[in-house]
Amino acid sequence: MDLQLAEGIAVVTGAGSGIGRATAKYLAAEGVKVVLLDIDLEAAEQNAREISTEGGQAAAIRVDLSDENSTGEAIAEAAATFGGIDYLVLCAGISTLFGKGVDEIGAAAWDREFGVNVRGQWLPVKFALPSLRASSRAAAISIVASDSALFAAPLNTAYEATKGAVLMLTKGLAVDLRPDNIRVNCVCPSVVDTPQSRAALGIVEGGYANVDYPVHSPEDIARYLTLLISPVTATINGHPLVADFGYSAQSNFPA
Ligand SMILES: NC(=O)c1ccc[n+]([C@@H]2O[C@H](COP(=O)([O-])OP(=O)(O)OC[C@H]3O[C@@H](n4cnc5c(N)ncnc54)[C@H](O)[C@@H]3O)[C@@H](O)[C@H]2O)c1
Repeated sequence: MDLQLAEGIAVVTGAGSGIGRATAKYLAAEGVKVVLLDIDLEAAEQNAREISTEGGQAAAIRVDLSDENSTGEAIAEAAATFGGIDYLVLCAGISTLFGKGVDEIGAAAWDREFGVNVRGQWLPVKFALPSLRASSRAAAISIVASDSALFAAPLNTAYEATKGAVLMLTKGLAVDLRPDNIRVNCVCPSVVDTPQSRAALGIVEGGYANVDYPVHSPEDIARYLTLLISPVTATINGHPLVADFGYSAQSNFPA
């Protein structure tokens, strides 16, 4: 299937690692020019170099997405890199409070989680809007939320609250940007094999090989994020695409 993205320009956040890294590569393989944003510039540059070696077009820029000035400057530089922005794919995020009860979390740590996971998804949209509005393509945004936006696990309240906010950010943006023909959707994955989930879940040697639950590859989520910015999903807007192997489809009916 032709995803009709070739020659477009995408900005991918969190592109130095995990899902963002895989998504930048996937988009580049589709012929998209990719600007990789990350607070870890070295990692983003390394990924951009790999994309270039594989024949793609990529550039890397450092940003702290929780900071308004940093994000404004990075998005302006990104728009100047290839001459515009057609697509935003927002993958940056942190999970630093898993395993803590709400009475064990300090306000600064709570705010930091929201600063990256929520403000860090809104700010790039704010600053990219003029470019997205000026795009000659079907501009679109896809965001990584989480199944934690919909279902709670024990001792993960702060992260879940941020992801619930990202889900409603997606819907609010979809409604507000509909007059501009800019679609906004999100993906809500269960566990994905990335440095973030390994750190949060204490996965060390052997990786996920011996766990008794299913785990996505970052490439799985890269495909879904890409599909949601493609014109092939033109009538899907404000949608949370749940990728959880069907777990949430099952009731607790004893059978
Ligand atoms: N891994 C999972 O199981 C899983 C499941 C559901 C949702 N998610 C979400 O997917 C997204 C990507 O996570 P991942 O698992 O690929 O994690 P990751 O840690 O591998 O990658 C996250 C990237 O975001 C960057 N980042 C962090 N703070 C930043 C900031 N302030 N400014 C700019 N960049 C920053 C990091 O440097 C890193 O490169 C996150 O939003 C995460 O919450 C992950």
